Amino acid sequence: MKKLVVLTGAGMSAESGLSTFRDAGGLWEKYKIDDVATPNAWHRNPGLVLDFYNQRRKQLFAVEPNPGHYLLAELQNYFEVEIITQNVDNLHERAGSSYVLHLHGELMKVRSTGIGAEVYEVSTDKIEVNIGDNCPNGFQLRPHIVWFGEAVPEIEKAEHLTTRADILVIIGTSLQVYPAAGLIHNARPNTPIYLIDPHEIENLPYNVTVIKNGASEGLKELKDLLLKNQK
Ligand code: APR
Repeated sequence: MKKLVVLTGAGMSAESGLSTFRDAGGLWEKYKIDDVATPNAWHRNPGLVLDFYNQRRKQLFAVEPNPGHYLLAELQNYFEVEIITQNVDNLHERAGSSYVLHLHGELMKVRSTGIGAEVYEVSTDKIEVNIGDNCPNGFQLRPHIVWFGEAVPEIEKAEHLTTRADILVIIGTSLQVYPAAGLIHNARPNTPIYLIDPHEIENLPYNVTVIKNGASEGLKELKDLLLKNQK
């Protein structure tokens, strides 16, 4: 089976009802990155940061995967699908995708602020994480999220996947945040690249086929195209 590598961003989950970051009305219009998504924010006001992610977690509980997530899971019948997501939600997994690499962390995980940085699943019975919620060694738990200014531990794995892709698909990301945005350049020169987004994305390499549509409709189009090319 051909290897289909998919890079997804916030637009992938928009049709489920989760806000993107940089569209009009997006999260970074409502919150300042410096207040909620940097190591400094955490040191200054951890309660505010925890609260921001508690809200994100509550929203995630209230939404479902959209048809686009399910179409990606269905493509596993025809391709070896590997998803690299910048999203911290778990909608790909809930739709049935079996390989999902989270570049920017996961909302449903927390980790110790102690040296071991042990990672724990957030209990579905108590999805709020507050000041005083500690790891077994007594260190405060923090969101398992890659904040601005932090290293992206999974980037090498993502680069490796992208380089081995037979087909690369990019969905719902403004490609403004590095290093994730640089992955598009790791595809081999003859690898077809498809990009699904309802808005124009700037500075794309010349060999990208753009499907200017939302994730669900765009994936329907792409599925037809890919299966036609398979024959
Ligand atoms: N279907 C597909 N794409 C959509 C849809 C939709 N229904 N609606 C909006 N989009 C597109 C927008 O046009 C935009 O190009 O989704 C993209 C969202 O871009 P951003 O808000 O910048 O999100 P993303 O690229 O995922 O952000 C990257 O930045 O804030 C950090 O860590 C956070 O992972 C995030 C990273």
